[in-house]
Amino acid sequence: MSAKILDGAALSRAILDELGEEVAALRAAHGTVPGLATILVGEDPASVSYVTRKVATAHALGFHEVQETLPATAHEAELLACIERHNADPRIHGILVQLPLPRHMEERTIIHAIAPEKDVDGFHPVNLGKLLMGDATAFLPCTPAGIREMLMRAGVRLDGAEVVIVGRSNIVGKPLAVLLGQKGPGGNATVTLTHTGTRDLAAHCRRADVLVAAAGVPGLVRSEWIKPGAVVIDVGVNRVGFNEKTGKPILSGDVEFAAAAEVAGMITPVPGGVGPMTIAMLMKNTVRSARQHPAA
Ligand code: GUN
Repeated sequence: MSAKILDGAALSRAILDELGEEVAALRAAHGTVPGLATILVGEDPASVSYVTRKVATAHALGFHEVQETLPATAHEAELLACIERHNADPRIHGILVQLPLPRHMEERTIIHAIAPEKDVDGFHPVNLGKLLMGDATAFLPCTPAGIREMLMRAGVRLDGAEVVIVGRSNIVGKPLAVLLGQKGPGGNATVTLTHTGTRDLAAHCRRADVLVAAAGVPGLVRSEWIKPGAVVIDVGVNRVGFNEKTGKPILSGDVEFAAAAEVAGMITPVPGGVGPMTIAMLMKNTVRSARQHPAA
């Protein structure tokens, strides 16, 4: 293997250590404890696993953590009432509703209901609009923010770089394209946002100095599509099987990892790459929200 592994787990630990100091300072200066409400609807195994890790990290940082679990059969009105309670609670600085939601719920209605100043996921139109306008008061969506942080800390030059993103989701591809294309540090890249309608995806990928795979299709990005020395960020977390011995799912990214690592200059593993960075950014947004409302 020739590529350097971008170790998101180690990087996120460093960020969480920095945040731990901020949490202590906030408590000492104002008596403020960051408060995070995590809301899970249903029992989708991947969502349960993500929420469990988010809750554990919040506890480890000494947050006031409130975990809400609603059955998959819950009415949308119950979820809206739950969000309203946390919107009105001054001890809560951040609200996270784990996606996807059951089919009978309208994701847009739910995201709109979260107070923008507590939207630490950065999914509310107010925060996405601010991101689009380059307004620094936006809460940035956690996965795009984590990817940018990782690239910057790894010393990857984005200024003038060709970035190709595969996948145009509202929570990763679209906001990441805006973030990396913005003027300023950690931006200034030339971004191509590809999707299922893209002609000759391979040709686009081959141009990339930084290639981000966020399509949710295991092994979609082939090693032949990677420019030698490119930085490869794999956002995919696909459950491709089940390990009977460990009792855990077998995860695969959107990139053919072993072969890609022979070509790329840097590459993120799955798991242990982007995932831990997403959680670190969620915690960072929550601490920032608490700092902005120190009396609570
Ligand atoms: N589902 C997949 N990624 C995310 C995320 O970053 N936040 C939430 N709330 N749901 C998700």
